[in-house]
Amino acid sequence: MKGIVLAGGSGSRLYPLTKITNKHLLPIYDKPMIYYPIQTLVEAGIRDILLVAGGRNSGDFLRLLANGKEFGLNHLNYTYQEGEGGIADALALAEHFADGEKICVILGDNIIEGTIRDAVEAFRHQPRGAKIMLKEVSDAERFGVAELDGDRIVGIEEKPQKPKSRYAVTGFYLYDGTVFEKVRKLVPSGRGELEITDVNNAYIREGTMTFAHLEGWWTDAGTFDSLLRASNLVAQSAAREAKSEARDASSVA
Ligand code: G1P
Repeated sequence: MKGIVLAGGSGSRLYPLTKITNKHLLPIYDKPMIYYPIQTLVEAGIRDILLVAGGRNSGDFLRLLANGKEFGLNHLNYTYQEGEGGIADALALAEHFADGEKICVILGDNIIEGTIRDAVEAFRHQPRGAKIMLKEVSDAERFGVAELDGDRIVGIEEKPQKPKSRYAVTGFYLYDGTVFEKVRKLVPSGRGELEITDVNNAYIREGTMTFAHLEGWWTDAGTFDSLLRASNLVAQSAAREAKSEARDASSVA
């Protein structure tokens, strides 16, 4: 399976932090934001990765990441999104790279404590369709929100005023090769973008969408509050890890 990290957009909700640089190059605790989604893909066993950059200073991604050596990769692929066409518009640029294979798409500002490995593994065995990952949140109106009927997903609403559940659709999407046909049929939403939620609803209508629940904490980092929250969560996890390593070392000694 191939991996695609979407890191375009103007980051307007983080202005003036994004006046000079791309949102995904901003720091989350001790690393640039873009490190986290790449790490998530590599950890899930995906090594053939395309980065869709865009917005300001997108050349800096190449200077920062080069061929992905820090992630144990020999090679990274890059492409450039012109304008502000939205997530599904950015995804359309990956058609040539995907070359008909299944893909795992990650939004560049989505950071998790745990792993998506199990969902990726399950999707390898899913004959067709798509798979998304849900997370129960207290502010569902900020996200795409899943409507569930038992263990079936019946629809997704993008940033609804009155969410039909507390399950946010996280920025991890597994798609089969038909995703690009679905993107081509989209029309821009009220905010003038091609919405990933409309792609997901096309799979739901087709009856081929599955979902899994994401374990551990999850945050995006596209607003001042979520950017701060992301840094705090990463810092707390790092402190917990350091403590447990110190405990292990002292029990060995
Ligand atoms: C996007 C998607 C939304 C999803 C969210 C996850 O929202 O449109 O469905 O829940 O990412 O981070 P955006 O951050 O572009 O507003």
